[in-house]
Amino acid sequence: MPDLVRYELRDRAAVITVDNPPVNALSPGVPDAIEAAVARAAQDTAARAVVLIGAGSTFIAGADIRYFETIATPEASLERSRAIHARLRNIEDCSKPLVAAIHGTALGGGLEFAMACHYRVAVSTAKVGQPEVLLGIIPGAGGTQRLPRIAGAELAIEMCTLGQHVPAARAAAAGIVDQIIEGDLLAGAIAFALEQGGIRKSRDQNVKIADSAAAIAACAQARHNLKRTARGAHAPYAAVDAIQAGIELGFDAGSDREIEIFAGCVLSTESRAMVKLFFAEREVAKIPDVPKDMPTLEIRSAAVVGAGTMGGGIAMNYANAGIPVLLKEVTQEALDRGLATIRRNYESSLAKGKITREQFDRTLALIQPTLTYDGFDQVDIVTEAVFENMDLKKSTFADLGRVTKPECILATNTSTLDVDEFARASGRPGKVIGTHYFSPANVMKLVEIVRGRESARQTIATGMKLAKKLNKVGVLVGNCFGFVANRMIAYYMREAYLLLEEGASVSHIDHALVEFGMPVGPFAMQDIAGIDVGARIRQYLRSIGKHRAEGPQSPVPDWLFHMGRYGQKTGSGWYRYEPGSRMPIPDPLIDELAEKAAAERGIERRAISEDEIIARIMTALANEGANILEEGYAARPGDIDVIYVYGFGFPRHRGGPMYYADTVGLPTVLDRVRRYRDQLGDHWNPAPLLEHLASSGRAFYGA
Ligand code: CAA
Repeated sequence: MPDLVRYELRDRAAVITVDNPPVNALSPGVPDAIEAAVARAAQDTAARAVVLIGAGSTFIAGADIRYFETIATPEASLERSRAIHARLRNIEDCSKPLVAAIHGTALGGGLEFAMACHYRVAVSTAKVGQPEVLLGIIPGAGGTQRLPRIAGAELAIEMCTLGQHVPAARAAAAGIVDQIIEGDLLAGAIAFALEQGGIRKSRDQNVKIADSAAAIAACAQARHNLKRTARGAHAPYAAVDAIQAGIELGFDAGSDREIEIFAGCVLSTESRAMVKLFFAEREVAKIPDVPKDMPTLEIRSAAVVGAGTMGGGIAMNYANAGIPVLLKEVTQEALDRGLATIRRNYESSLAKGKITREQFDRTLALIQPTLTYDGFDQVDIVTEAVFENMDLKKSTFADLGRVTKPECILATNTSTLDVDEFARASGRPGKVIGTHYFSPANVMKLVEIVRGRESARQTIATGMKLAKKLNKVGVLVGNCFGFVANRMIAYYMREAYLLLEEGASVSHIDHALVEFGMPVGPFAMQDIAGIDVGARIRQYLRSIGKHRAEGPQSPVPDWLFHMGRYGQKTGSGWYRYEPGSRMPIPDPLIDELAEKAAAERGIERRAISEDEIIARIMTALANEGANILEEGYAARPGDIDVIYVYGFGFPRHRGGPMYYADTVGLPTVLDRVRRYRDQLGDHWNPAPLLEHLASSGRAFYGA
């Protein structure tokens, strides 16, 4: 096995190379080998300076995340952290100039090792960050102590609470990086190291936090902001606490606090959930029966049929990825309307400085409007985004089967209809898949890649690869009604409607879910999405004798639809809205409608607690998720969780609905389902998989 850490001499500098693919994580053996190599360099009379660099495509991307799951007790965490802190001090005490040479990413423990070096140089494309908060922990190797000393409290707080990557240029401006290296990184780093006359320990730098009152005020401000941005999460606050401790108590006592706070975080449910999610996010790309090296079709050009809200957003996705796209409509008026919306979206990005004028012109020029199928014989993929109507979509697929080249992939953006019907209509079902984008399609990261009965594996692999190219998170799902996201959300909404009839108010239910960590409650969400959208789907389903979810169907949403209360766009829906305002105002009319619906169904209304609201709604999600897993429409519980996090903003710190159910305990979840069945009716039917796992003491994860 090759050495994880290599030592060599180059031009009077000792070069220490971490070589632990794929991301040079600090797996067991790596930190001690770096420490030993630095000690060797200090003794090496042939070395005047030392460079720490990563092999392959990156510097050190952090601790080995899998290791965190093995920490079982606070004592084990304390012991590990103390050891790593001691190592970093030893490294920092090196008597020769020690330079971290950064390319790719220096993240988490990687940045902490770099900050224990005396200097840092980086290529211009490098990024640094303390993303631990995204794993429910805080930097545990001195990051909350050295970073404020190097970059100041404000940037340290920002980096440790948001976890975002900071590009090299910004890092250089803030003093995290001392020099940007053009050309060969190692040669530049060696030259830089040999130029340094002395050493500089980050832990002794105090200038940037000398104004401790200002730094502590920044901590207070951060805590205030987190109430809005990190609802329900603990780690961001913990990071601020550790930073403040270092400012108030000094480096040594601050480090002790960091070690203690880290131990509290690493064993938390929040951290366990976020670590699971980290790996689930990577796992979704792996399709059990599609090999990783399956050849895919190169997507060089695309077409979209339908320039409505979804079609326009999808065309923007292609253009944003530099892929030329034909955008087809039936009438000039509809085409003009669609293009005007696209232009407005790009103008807004331009005004906000998110894109340059040159990018604006270049990207917009990639979208070619058309009223015909001319040019469709050249494209590699067509995405159909016409009105959600079976006959219309089938005839579109019949057209597409005729006008496109045989290898062209035909994708549908349907959210409810049967992909296999379109596959048959196209005449080449192997090339047909679903690509279910979420609205607004140019913003939302999730796309469900829907596998039809005859979708070829190459088509699936191409769809998954395309999602990545479009900067989306693609999750493969089966072709069931509503696929995974909307099938489950139907149960979420069913319970919300029924809880309303049973006595909870709209704002009470929304508040409970927002407190739980959802970005918006179910009713406010519907007012944004449009009550008419759901009503039309229900109308269609009734016409074919189906329902979105099993069980009683509340009439209230349809009453609102018939009253013309479509949500924000009509100034009223589940809430009222003042002209020009998006602030939801509770409307007593909804309570009257709920009372009327309850009376019609013979329901005696009662007081309902927020705990009950969460339990009912989350149990409904988990139970239906279990059905989906058992039926094979999602490959893994993590796939469902990724869908919910990216599609609906399910709080990351709870891991997703399936992981959340694991944390509640499947026996408890099953007890609830049974209790609801007894109280509320047979539509609360326990999923066989839930029964099986709960009775055998297992969980969705690791089942
Ligand atoms: N530990 C273990 N495995 C890791 C890892 C880590 N820190 N970072 C990445 N990997 C694995 C991924 O699971 C993936 O494995 P598979 O191929 O088997 O799925 C592989 O490395 C490649 O990762 P990506 O697919 O994510 O590759 P990418 O090029 O898209 O992104 C990255 C690279 C930006 C480094 C991204 O992987 C990433 O953000 N990693 C996590 C970084 C992080 O959070 N670091 C902090 C760790 S906590 C810490 O360091 C605590 C401390 O204070 C000591």
